[in-house]
Amino acid sequence: MATLRPSSTGWALFLALLTILLCLVVPGEMVKHNNFKKCDQSGFCKRNRAYANSASNQGSSWSAPYHLDSSSVKFSNGQLLGTIVKTIENNEKVNLPLTVSFLESGVTRVTVDEEKRIKGDIELRHESKVRKERYNEAAKWTIVGGLELSSTAELVKETEAGVTKVFYGPNNKFQAIIRHSPFEVHFQRDGETHIQLNDKGFLNMEHWRPKVENPDREDNDSKDNVDDSTWWEESFGGNTDSKPRGPESVAMDITFPGYSHVFGIPEHADSLSLKETRGGDGHHTEPYRMYNSDVFEYELNSPMTLYGSIPFMQAHRKGSTVGVFWLNAAETWVDIVKTKASTNPLALGVSGKTSTQTHWFSEAGQLDVFVFLGPTPQDLSRTYGELTGYTQLPQHFAIGYHQCRWNYVTDEDVKDVDSKFDMYQIPYDVIWLDLEYTDQKKYFTWDPLTFPDPDGMQKQLDDSERKLVVIIDPHIKNEANYPIVEDMKSKGLAVKNKEGNIYDGWCWPGSSHWVDCFNPAAMSWWTTLFKYDKFKGTHPNMFIWNDMNEPSVFNGPETTMPKDNIHHGGWEHRDVHNVNGMTFVNATFNAMLERKRGEIRRPFILTRSFYAGTQRIGAMWTGDNQANWDHLAASLPMVLNNGIAGFPFAGADVGGFFGNPSKELLTRWYQTGIFYPFFRAHAHIDTRRREPYLAGEPHMSIITQALHLRYQLLPAWYTAFQQASVDGSPIVRPQYYVHPDDEAGFAIDDQLYLGSTGLLAKPVVTEGASSVDVYLADDEQYYDYFDYTVYQGAGKKHTVQAPLEKVPILMQGGHIIPRKDRPRRSSGLMKWDPFTLVVALDRNGQADGTLYVDDGETYDYQNGAYIHRRFSFSSSSLSSEDIGAKGTKTGQYLKTMAGVRVEKIIIVGAPAEWEGKSSVLVLEEGSHTGSQASLQWFAKQGGKAAYAVVKDPGVSIGNLWKIDFS
Ligand code: NOJ
Repeated sequence: MATLRPSSTGWALFLALLTILLCLVVPGEMVKHNNFKKCDQSGFCKRNRAYANSASNQGSSWSAPYHLDSSSVKFSNGQLLGTIVKTIENNEKVNLPLTVSFLESGVTRVTVDEEKRIKGDIELRHESKVRKERYNEAAKWTIVGGLELSSTAELVKETEAGVTKVFYGPNNKFQAIIRHSPFEVHFQRDGETHIQLNDKGFLNMEHWRPKVENPDREDNDSKDNVDDSTWWEESFGGNTDSKPRGPESVAMDITFPGYSHVFGIPEHADSLSLKETRGGDGHHTEPYRMYNSDVFEYELNSPMTLYGSIPFMQAHRKGSTVGVFWLNAAETWVDIVKTKASTNPLALGVSGKTSTQTHWFSEAGQLDVFVFLGPTPQDLSRTYGELTGYTQLPQHFAIGYHQCRWNYVTDEDVKDVDSKFDMYQIPYDVIWLDLEYTDQKKYFTWDPLTFPDPDGMQKQLDDSERKLVVIIDPHIKNEANYPIVEDMKSKGLAVKNKEGNIYDGWCWPGSSHWVDCFNPAAMSWWTTLFKYDKFKGTHPNMFIWNDMNEPSVFNGPETTMPKDNIHHGGWEHRDVHNVNGMTFVNATFNAMLERKRGEIRRPFILTRSFYAGTQRIGAMWTGDNQANWDHLAASLPMVLNNGIAGFPFAGADVGGFFGNPSKELLTRWYQTGIFYPFFRAHAHIDTRRREPYLAGEPHMSIITQALHLRYQLLPAWYTAFQQASVDGSPIVRPQYYVHPDDEAGFAIDDQLYLGSTGLLAKPVVTEGASSVDVYLADDEQYYDYFDYTVYQGAGKKHTVQAPLEKVPILMQGGHIIPRKDRPRRSSGLMKWDPFTLVVALDRNGQADGTLYVDDGETYDYQNGAYIHRRFSFSSSSLSSEDIGAKGTKTGQYLKTMAGVRVEKIIIVGAPAEWEGKSSVLVLEEGSHTGSQASLQWFAKQGGKAAYAVVKDPGVSIGNLWKIDFS
């Protein structure tokens, strides 16, 4: 009799199907939360949150124990010095020296230290030999300029008692109002407060104290309900941190009155506009954490820490952008709370508006905070860059497409992949070697069986101007007869454990030691390792990938080094953790500069870990993402956020690192990846091969089209990189940055602008999509990049068709976009190709744009060997003018570029009067007569704009010229 009960084979089948179904619906891999601290598992985080709670709960009866001693205040030459006095138990006083530096740039730096520790007047526990001071060298690694003190900052003479005021900044329009008791600073611009330090009274500098054995709880801090259980020791995941200096965290609240959006503080897999962290609908419950970590299978929409940290935050509201940079290299957390001001008439200027309160806390170090009063996002980028440096102008190849996987397994494999790209006519610039090229994970060696001929491999790549990148990590295999480790050990260049012996941990090679790049001797030694005769089988077209430099230690606490490890100079790892990764890149950067005497070319280094300042020396990527749509979508806010935090040379693994993307996902990822400043496909060792030519049709052709688009726009990309290298502006820009007055766009983080080109892209990041909605902030006309369909209408979304083969890109009217339209195998082969200019006219028939070109390789541009032009279209005339400065190498460079011309000009939105016109007049410097070039005009069709094409005007890209369309 038939029943509904399945037979036993039926059961088996059913269960198998169920399992498969479950596998399909179960969300992707999950981060192991237990491996990483939550705030209440991190002693100082918990204490500072509790301190803030207690202060908030006490409300107006809260009296913060920090007062600036009025008699100590001295002001001279742009700097205010004083002593903040902290009152502790039994009315004892702790002196905290304060320095407020008013910088020429209009930025203010507020530094607070601790007298006893400065003087070394403290006792270390466990007979430790570490330094007694609070770490004061974060600036040494991070700050490269902008510290000149203001010559015009001026102390306001007449003020009420207990208040010090200083005018500073451009035309002295900024004012710092320092209240002495409790200590608090308001920063005003044009009479309005934009930033408040310690307005909530969360300032907390955990002063040095001796450990009281068997404390009498009555007399100890416990009376204030301070949790002292982690003051002297802290355990997590089986590791105990010995804390020889006891509790020493620094914390402060920073409020942005009237600002409802804050951005920055990467790296987090989260939205661009940062969320609140104290719970509530859609908000986080944990603070944003910055403690560089190798987070396996990281989760999205999370304030969890990731591989890098930049403690720079921008607060934005209509008409104003301000910010802070919290210079501290130790573990740091940031709480964010937004409050809606009551319609209190006393809440000057912010009544009824949302304000953002932030609370910053770091485990150790000085309190050192830079305050920026804007008022524009560009001002923030520029002044922050003045301090921490601008993005390195990379070699030109570095902005092409990078082909990576873990791993290309032999030198023949590399050559084969290289040839296949050619066979299928797909452009790429760089192929990468992950770990497996080495002889058993010993860096600076080649596996003799699988890579017997690195020379031949690099030679083949060089034939088409392609490059090789190889991975070099900071862990050095601890194995007998490995000269590198022996050398490092014998010279004392490795990081030490708390006992002062060489620290031994576990990473890819097994037992390993870590090179201590805080040590100048280690840096010099590192330099020797990259010389061609030392790292044999490497060529000038080989560059470096520094991975695992958080540092990642598989058996360490939170997958990193113990905090009580010791670095050069006697600093604990706790003090320097977040700059550690950058010091390694720094050493590699110097080494790459010195590979051979006389061969000075711009290094290219990719790093996973970073801190403020890493933008000067490398590119970053967002680490081990996953091959799913959510990770594709998350890559956009992450890359955008890095850009506004001053490190725009950023990208994510195209295709997703873990897992196998569907062909649709892979295709959409390439179409998105072409908008990452750093554009690299990468995949885990367990994934299937997915080079573009394996995708099959139509995917292969669509991916190839996307790659051609990237290559076509390389002149625009390189121009955006050059701009970033001189003023810190992001290479891809979020909506608020480009339209700072359009409130509806502030939180948008899924569309982006390429440099100053007016190109607006909204990549497809959802499965099965056939259109996207692009938000337009202004009333300008926006043209579809491919067919010139016009979209217009401010403050709303416009549907743009986006079938699989289409990348949604619009051109904002008013811009001129430089391109190179001839497809080649690599960017190096495009060097002498002619340019195309796309002139997208605005409503007034005008447009302008810029182009920067140099040799893409050396530093000769610093001596004027470059072309920098501004193109302008107005009154029916297109002209090219020089906006560069001349140098000793300008003339010679221009000679080499004389034959590089403009081969095509496309005018989109061309006026109807041009109908019937068949030529234009071309005037070029050096030719008196002028010449004619052909013009073809195409009428407007349906929703598509009219356009015109000038063929081969013959003008040289470096020359002064003018084309008359009248
Ligand atoms: C971790 C990196 O994030 C990943 O990209 C790389 O492939 C592996 N390390 C192996 O080197």
